[in-house]
Amino acid sequence: MAGYTSPPFRLLCCWMGAELVYTELISAEGLTREPNYRRSQLMLSSLEHPVAVQLFGADPRRLAESAAMAEAAGADIIDLNLGCPAPVVTHSGGGAALAAQPAIAVKCVRAMVEAVRVPITAKLRAGLQPGDTGYIDLASRLVDAGVSALALHGRSVKQGFRGHADWRTISALVKAAPVPVLGNGDVACAADAVRMLRETGCKGVLIGRAAVGDPWLFARSAAVFGGQEEPAPPSPLARLAVMLWYVHRLAKDFGEKEAVRLGRLQLIPFSRGLPGAVALRRSLGSARSFADLRTAVLVAWATVVGEKGSA
Ligand SMILES: Cc1cc2nc3c(=O)[nH]c(=O)nc-3n(C[C@H](O)[C@H](O)[C@H](O)COP(=O)(O)O)c2cc1C
Repeated sequence: MAGYTSPPFRLLCCWMGAELVYTELISAEGLTREPNYRRSQLMLSSLEHPVAVQLFGADPRRLAESAAMAEAAGADIIDLNLGCPAPVVTHSGGGAALAAQPAIAVKCVRAMVEAVRVPITAKLRAGLQPGDTGYIDLASRLVDAGVSALALHGRSVKQGFRGHADWRTISALVKAAPVPVLGNGDVACAADAVRMLRETGCKGVLIGRAAVGDPWLFARSAAVFGGQEEPAPPSPLARLAVMLWYVHRLAKDFGEKEAVRLGRLQLIPFSRGLPGAVALRRSLGSARSFADLRTAVLVAWATVVGEKGSA
């Protein structure tokens, strides 16, 4: 997820039981033109496997070159985004705009498949507008071009993030496609993840927004899927310990300016439900340095320990 699935977040998801993590969508134009972008976007850790690098673009040559760079950086899977409706992605023909141009999409996939040994997969939306079943035909053409698996977000492009994801579109793709299908959209809790697997027959579930600030959701989902009791959510101190680790990890991976920007965005969702969450969010939101981020978490820690002590 753009802005959220940074290296530390992906590591946490792996540790909490996610069986596959994805980078945010990465521009093939950017990768092939800008060394700094390449360095920051293809920062994969040896601990986060299997990892899919997600690319967007509409130029077969640049996508092939980018796929090779991602493979060299350690990607286990290269995923092509054909669903993102954001203008910053579609204006150059990528994301959802590529889904509207199946012949170009096929050329892109073929070029990527030829460029690497790791599997190429594709992520789609359920049609361009509600009721449009063209995604089934598009998926079939992408499979013919060589994709090894498909992921489907059960909303149409036109829907953006409005309304509900229609899981029937996932069932339809599962029936039609000869490759594994991963379902996506509106999984908010462990029970939803298991229900999506059972109702649609998909081979795996991709969790987006609900995992932001709550990577423990993967452990809860795996437990419920395995027939065990759902583990309790982490204690406030466990949550704060993870946040402190996160600050240090961002500091290690990025320069201060970028780490503080990412930290503000990515740590605030971890504060949900903590005692003193409002004050913590305010301090994180106004942080200007690593020290500010760290202090914000430590002050919250002291609040929780103080409350325990006085209880
Ligand atoms: C802030 C934000 C960033 C996203 N970035 C990406 C992205 O980089 N690549 C992608 O395939 N989907 C991206 N998505 C879409 C999600 O991966 C997912 O398909 C969608 O949110 C529905 O799943 P969910 O209900 O589990 O969140 C993004 C969504 C949001 C809200």
